[in-house]
Amino acid sequence: MKIVFAIVSISLLLGAGVASNVATQDQADMQGKSGNQTSAAQKRGSDNGYQARFTDDGQLIRPVGWRKWVYIGTPLTPHDMNDGKAAFPEFHNVYIDPESFATFERTGEFPEGTQIAKELVLVGSKAAVSGKGYFMGDFNGLEVALKDSKRFKDEPGGWVYFSFGHKAEYEMTAKVMPTASCNACHQSSAATDFVFTQYYPVLREAMPQVMKQKQQGDMQSKAKMDDKAMKAAMGAMGEAMDANSDKKASYQEKVFKWLVAKKYSNFASDSTVHPSSSGPAVHGDVRTFYNKKLDESMKQGNDTHPVGSLAVKELHKDNVLIGWALAVKSKEDDGKGNGWWWYENLSVTDTKNPVAAGLGHTSCVGCHAPGRDFVRTLTLN
Ligand code: HEC
Ligand code: HEC
Repeated sequence: MKIVFAIVSISLLLGAGVASNVATQDQADMQGKSGNQTSAAQKRGSDNGYQARFTDDGQLIRPVGWRKWVYIGTPLTPHDMNDGKAAFPEFHNVYIDPESFATFERTGEFPEGTQIAKELVLVGSKAAVSGKGYFMGDFNGLEVALKDSKRFKDEPGGWVYFSFGHKAEYEMTAKVMPTASCNACHQSSAATDFVFTQYYPVLREAMPQVMKQKQQGDMQSKAKMDDKAMKAAMGAMGEAMDANSDKKASYQEKVFKWLVAKKYSNFASDSTVHPSSSGPAVHGDVRTFYNKKLDESMKQGNDTHPVGSLAVKELHKDNVLIGWALAVKSKEDDGKGNGWWWYENLSVTDTKNPVAAGLGHTSCVGCHAPGRDFVRTLTLN
């Protein structure tokens, strides 16, 4: 076997052709490009054709044959559920290189050199003889995640992310994406070492039993933490909330009822509704309210606000209240926004589907990081 691997990899490096047990979908491109290829820095014990390869100027060369790697799942973010512009349109077919899959099955860990390809496929049709639904149309893009902590030692977890374009014809090479654009969200929200195993049933099943148990434990303790944060949030919202609320309601429902009842209306606030400075796309027209704790802390010019600080932002569209964004400091922060509990709901009637709810929510903290202890409105107007 070793000899076969060696031949495969040498033939790849020379660009002399692609051996038949490696995929052939890019054969023609590969041959044209071979002149400026160098082999991957990281060696994984054996050369097997699954190694990431880079150009001399450090760009990742599009992998070969990812459609023949191990298929792990297909998340779907259809345009029609994302205002016509899903960040990654629309089906995401995800594959892991077979060698790393084998290691993952054995150890529950992604080894150095792991490559995961996410190929985007547009929705083609929404009805078939089988019924209504989403059916795959054309290929529309390719992203790759690579774990290589030697070449990219400054990247959290050693994970780096590449995009070969969102279109039918993929680029041949791709530059590493900035940490904030990709890595950060994977770090904070993915279940297993920057990889979203929570959405890949194949990986969940493949994981060794001990890992499965550990992960369940982690999820439960995260839920408990959110629960604690909710209790603190309610404390900050005042006695009124507890007294009014239905004992059986979840904390989130209580927060929602508190908002609907406008219990914040006696807070310090902007005098009028005004356009959001982050542009109409994100928050539309807004009016911000601070509870006493936060208002005092802002007036004192503090860089860190006390636990119990609470900000509410009414969201308006065409002069109608359409929802709320809320941030409450429920414990000391770690500098990453994890001490704040974030909540946004774009409905004034539906409790069940908030856009965001959670400590250090990734949709919120990035944009709020430049604020004063995550608060963006420096002076109420
Ligand atoms: C706001 C969070 C977020 C950001 C930012 C983000 N991703 Fe992801 N990524 C996800 C989620 C969630 C999944 C799994 C579900 C899916 O595909 O929708 C995923 C999956 C992936 C996968 C499949 C492997 C895995 O780790 O699960 C790749 C490859 C990937 N993303 C590449 C990128 C690239 C490239 C960028 C930057 C251009 C990026 N991602 C930015 C949330 C994010
Ligand atoms: C694109 C950047 C951006 C994102 C993403 C964002 N915000 Fe904001 N947010 C702002 C800006 C800018 C302000 C200041 C008021 C304004 O101009 O809208 C603000 C204000 C707020 C306020 C009033 C207190 C303050 O900091 O000024 C709250 C509460 C809030 N946002 C909550 C959220 C929540 C919850 C999320 C995530 C679901 C979120 N924001 C995501 C940019 C953003």
